[in-house]
Amino acid sequence: MKHYLSIKDIDSLPDWVSEARKLKANPTSNKSLGEGKTICLLFFNNSLRTRLSTQKAALNLGMEVMVMNFGSEGWQLEFEDGVVMDQGKSEHIKEAAQVVSQYCDIVAIRAFASLTDKNKDEAELVLNGFVKHASIPVVNMESSIGHPLQALADAITLTENNVGTRPKVVLSWAPHPKALPHAVANSFVEMMRLQDAEFVITHPEGYELNKEITKDVLIEYDQKKACENADFIYVKNWSSYTDYGKVLSQDSDWMMTYEKLGKAKFMHCLPVRRNVVVEDAVLDATQSLVIEQANNRTFAAQVVLKKILES
Ligand code: CP
Repeated sequence: MKHYLSIKDIDSLPDWVSEARKLKANPTSNKSLGEGKTICLLFFNNSLRTRLSTQKAALNLGMEVMVMNFGSEGWQLEFEDGVVMDQGKSEHIKEAAQVVSQYCDIVAIRAFASLTDKNKDEAELVLNGFVKHASIPVVNMESSIGHPLQALADAITLTENNVGTRPKVVLSWAPHPKALPHAVANSFVEMMRLQDAEFVITHPEGYELNKEITKDVLIEYDQKKACENADFIYVKNWSSYTDYGKVLSQDSDWMMTYEKLGKAKFMHCLPVRRNVVVEDAVLDATQSLVIEQANNRTFAAQVVLKKILES
């Protein structure tokens, strides 16, 4: 495998989940695989889980790790070709990507959506700039439109906690005071499309995700109805896709409550705002899987890095 950029790079989700669970049972079993290899983690945005779990995964494989907060510490990058660089941008992606390629064997990148320009966000300038100009494998640690390491961790968590044969899984929008990207929801939908499950998305009207991603997935605008008899409820806020990047509603009726959760297991990628997105009673219940999800981030990253190192 050359790059891990989206869920589409997974050739067999059940095999990857199975391999990740084996790594979880014996995390340092491949410690010699990464010996003498270095991964560089470039963050254009903040992180807790992605930053630490990806480092942990690399260390488990015997790799060296370099981390840079590129957004605040690197030079401002230019992405357009042929531009006269006489304004604020000091370095072109062409040089930056080639330079990084000399220092490490894999580069992982986090670069969120701006939520102001849909076309620019969907062009994935940072991620695709590195794919185009770097000579080493690139891993997506959350880009404008996808968070495939999170969705792979979510697939591991679903498998570990599923007791039935064909679970009902609900992806529910929830209110949030800030405009948030679509990346987590997009990758979760793409991952769920690979699962044998009854999958429903619920959100207020106007919060439809990109239809090229949701395709024929059932959308139910009545949250309580959608959550009936659910086995797993995954809660996430996202801003409007149609009215790009706008917060159309902060309706607190959409907050996940213990009553709405019923017997379902609760999932969220974190970080989460308590008593805005989800009430304390849910996060503090034994049904909450959020800490397990965060733990599985390590083994999702580890299976990805292992596959890249092996190829
Ligand atoms: N879920 C997730 O990606 O967390 P961080 O933003 O803290 O990395």
